[in-house]
Amino acid sequence: MELFHLENIKKEYKNGDQSLEVLKGVSFSISEGDFVSIMGRSGAGKSTLLQILGCLDAPSSGKYFFDEMPIHDLNDDQMSEIRNQKIGFVFQSFYLLPYLSVLQNVMMPMEYSYLSLNERRDRALHWLSRFQIDHRKDYLPKQLSGGEKQRVALARSMVNEPKLLLADEPTGNLDLKVRDEVIEVFHALNQKEKTTIIMVTHDQELGAMTPKRIHLRSGLLHD
Ligand SMILES: Nc1ncnc2c1ncn2[C@@H]1O[C@H](COP(=O)(O)OP(=O)(O)OP(=O)(O)O)[C@@H](O)[C@H]1O
Ligand SMILES: [Mg+2]
Repeated sequence: MELFHLENIKKEYKNGDQSLEVLKGVSFSISEGDFVSIMGRSGAGKSTLLQILGCLDAPSSGKYFFDEMPIHDLNDDQMSEIRNQKIGFVFQSFYLLPYLSVLQNVMMPMEYSYLSLNERRDRALHWLSRFQIDHRKDYLPKQLSGGEKQRVALARSMVNEPKLLLADEPTGNLDLKVRDEVIEVFHALNQKEKTTIIMVTHDQELGAMTPKRIHLRSGLLHD
């Protein structure tokens, strides 16, 4: 079953009278249960594309259907509802809230859920342990290493059990051993929970580990 598709997506950034076309007409579709890496040079538009997929930003033109909803026709409130319910996001910089503990950060996305406080806590701890970072639950983000922050951000992205997980360089700060562990968790999520995963990476070796790849070059897809 198709999860989403893009039709001729363009994205232009305007700075004063200058404009930069970052995506120049991108079209592709993703099925439920796919595990795809998006590859391409720095500045190729990978994060821009991921933000559009994650309903965090709107394209300048083109169509985006997600779960049969025409995202390009929705307003900001409708977009954030879809984002909260169906999409998990791991950003290139993690955006952990500095004044909240690890556990509180991971519980944040469940704020609007119907779950009781105990259920939220248990679920947060479950995902912290899946990414092997539960022993740091009472730390503040500033007390964590880069790789530890990344694992907390991954746990946070999963607590609402999204259909679609979007990860922007999710292993950029990890050593090879931890990188491989994170990829193992992704494979397990993909196989067992049937989570669709789209992962941006520079890392050729990592790209080779996912079943599908999309290459972005100068704002267009290449084979
Ligand atoms: N908000 C913005 N305003 C103006 N230009 C932007 C904005 N965001 C990104 N750009 C530009 O768009 C281009 C693509 O940026 P993007 O972040 O999508 O690249 P990327 O492929 O993710 O690169 P990297 O691998 O370095 O993360 C860059 O040249 C960048 O300068
Ligand atoms: Mg980027």
